[in-house]
Amino acid sequence: MKTNRWKSKMWFIAMLLTVALTSCNSTVTEQTPTLKDAYQGMFVIGTALNKGHNYGTDTLGINLIKQHFNSIVAENCMKSMHIQPTEGVFFFDEADKFVEFGEANNMNIIGHTLIWHSQAPDWFFVDEDGADVTREVMIERMRNHIHTVVGRYKGRVDGWDVVNEAFMDDGSWRNTKFYEIIGGEYIKLAFQFANEADPDAELYYNDYAMSAEGKRNGVVELVKQLQAAGVRVDGIGMQGHMGMDYPDISEFEKSIKAFAALDVNVMITEMDITLLPFPGDETAEVSLSAEYQEKMNPYAAGLPDNINAAWEQRYIDYFQLFLNYSDNISRVTLWGLTDADTWRNNWPIEGRTDYPLLFGRDYQAKPVVEKLIELTNNNE
Ligand code: G3I
Repeated sequence: MKTNRWKSKMWFIAMLLTVALTSCNSTVTEQTPTLKDAYQGMFVIGTALNKGHNYGTDTLGINLIKQHFNSIVAENCMKSMHIQPTEGVFFFDEADKFVEFGEANNMNIIGHTLIWHSQAPDWFFVDEDGADVTREVMIERMRNHIHTVVGRYKGRVDGWDVVNEAFMDDGSWRNTKFYEIIGGEYIKLAFQFANEADPDAELYYNDYAMSAEGKRNGVVELVKQLQAAGVRVDGIGMQGHMGMDYPDISEFEKSIKAFAALDVNVMITEMDITLLPFPGDETAEVSLSAEYQEKMNPYAAGLPDNINAAWEQRYIDYFQLFLNYSDNISRVTLWGLTDADTWRNNWPIEGRTDYPLLFGRDYQAKPVVEKLIELTNNNE
């Protein structure tokens, strides 16, 4: 009897210890319903996975991703400079892990990106003497790159950003090496190669500043031409790199409508809302950079409530817009998980403290998450 009482006392203490230790260890509070549950039937909710997620070192991050998201995109590991840094030498290790994670968790898996002027290795465009390759060689390199990468993940990656950022904001062609050497036909060829490599994967054109009238018209024209030529384009990705005053929501809506009218899926592919001051015109042009200045990093010590409230409202307004077009929008993807990971901390000025994402540096869902979840109640 005495022994039994002692045993149950010990059991009780052990229980208390377990509860205490568990609550110390797991700093991530579970939320019900989660983002992906709340938006079920409207669109999938995605996030971009970085190295720590792909290799499983960011365990808290991985738990959050599993809870809240049902779509994933590779933030960096599938870009040509990472996946084929030298001609014919492919580095698939991280991309393999990314795809395996998505499969193991039954997620919609997006490959990013096959043809992008930025983060493309130099060898892609030049011969052994450093001179530009011929059009034929360039096309062959594109074909080989796309066939090898898409072919490896055939039937496993659900959709590809086939071409990224081919236009300037005014709708003119971006003068990339692909454009310079092949001409505008490079886009058509890229989509054809991707279709050959995996006829069942969805194929997308993806760009930023899609609310700009010129770019909107340029992309509409491109997709119409591809469709007229019998080339399959399944969706248009509107990168959502936003700020507090940019883009104008009504201009963004015009682009959703214009793209939806092409009978393709519309996707918000890289959403984040920076609240830091921007040097010059707001854009997502990656080549832009500026010197660090204290006044350009105003919230390093914390975020004032009024700024946070205005930021939350921007997210709410945009998610309400997405809900209004949920018949046309198939996916909304956040460009990263927590404020600690975001590219915004280092662009266009290095070393700032930004707060553009839905989860804080402490891996906690920000209060806006609950509000975005509540928003779906009015939509049923
Ligand atoms: O991983 C290395 C690290 O080992 C090294 O010490 C460090 C030193 O600079 O660099 C790290 O790599 C950086 C990488 O991000 C991972 O953090 C690269 O320098 C940096 O250039 C790279 O930036 C990425 C950028 O694209 C360029 O590829 C951002 O993470 C990524 O968020 C950003 O994403 C783009 C989309 O692909 C296309 N649309 C615009 C969007 C934002 O620029």
